[in-house]
Amino acid sequence: MSTEALSTAEGLVKAPLIHKGKVRELYDLGEHLLIVVTDRISAFDYVLDPAVPEKGKVLNGLSAFWFDKTKDLVPNHVVHTDVRKLGDLVSEPDKLAGRIMVTKKAKRIDIECVVRGYITGGGWRQYQKNGEVNGIPLPAGLRKNAKLEEPIFTPAGKNDVGHDEDISFEEMERRIGSELAAGLRKRSLLLYDYALAVCEHKSIILADCKFEFGLLGDEIILIDELFTPDSSRFWAEEKYELDIEIDSMDKEPVRTYLLSTDWDRDSTPPRLPDDVVNATTARYQEIYRRLTEPTSYGFNTFQAVKY
Ligand SMILES: Nc1ncnc2c1ncn2[C@@H]1O[C@H](COP(=O)(O)OP(=O)(O)O)[C@@H](O)[C@H]1O
Ligand SMILES: [Mg+2]
Repeated sequence: MSTEALSTAEGLVKAPLIHKGKVRELYDLGEHLLIVVTDRISAFDYVLDPAVPEKGKVLNGLSAFWFDKTKDLVPNHVVHTDVRKLGDLVSEPDKLAGRIMVTKKAKRIDIECVVRGYITGGGWRQYQKNGEVNGIPLPAGLRKNAKLEEPIFTPAGKNDVGHDEDISFEEMERRIGSELAAGLRKRSLLLYDYALAVCEHKSIILADCKFEFGLLGDEIILIDELFTPDSSRFWAEEKYELDIEIDSMDKEPVRTYLLSTDWDRDSTPPRLPDDVVNATTARYQEIYRRLTEPTSYGFNTFQAVKY
């Protein structure tokens, strides 16, 4: 049904590999970085076998789409996404087409900037404990998946080993200074509001999302990935309900399959059957179609205050 999956670009790129994450690989091009989004898929913190065809292209395509749409709102790291411009740096460019992004090299700010418009996931778990999320008190009696009155900014300290750590805004100020912290919060809330509105027109709810920022000299730019299913929680409006665990638009077939097996989540996960892989590819393609399909609304030319 689709092209062969790419589980790594190692061996195809003639540049040093500087970071291999669960899904993406970073190569050092000197002045720039090369991000390759592979088709690897993770669930419950494990990278699974086999990779999912087309997934990397969807994730990279969505990032490219959103970086382009928001570039007048917040500048970002994108230089280009054209594999042909890489020339001899890559062998077999066809295998990498659609899954690369050449970016400016920024000094990463070690904070994950999370915005939540709905109370779910980790935010819901915090709220259940003490009625707060990252130190922000919320009204009593909220139900899981409820829309918040106002989106909230709930940062996390970036941790290269282990999980990121939820911190209060005051702690973020201590770590990076109050001026930079306020700047990142402002940009994050602005980006969320914008994407929420775009998604709404596509009958998708953007429940929460995560941004990373970096510094290019004095300039704050948006880096990493943007509004992908790996960094944001999208809900199909028709699946929205309070109190339940809402289907994730991307990995649901994988999660459902793994939960149907007797896998203990503490050992090598079972291999994904072909029908699960195919269903997952279809999910990713569908979310790409739904999000990027042009609408008759004027969002493509959206320009607000520029930071
Ligand atoms: N333009 C950029 N400049 C500097 N660092 C970047 C840039 N874009 C992304 N990064 C960093 O590259 C890394 C990408 O890793 P990622 O694929 O998210 O793997 P994981 O999160 O699983 O370690 C992250 O540490 C991110 O902060
Ligand atoms: Mg990451």
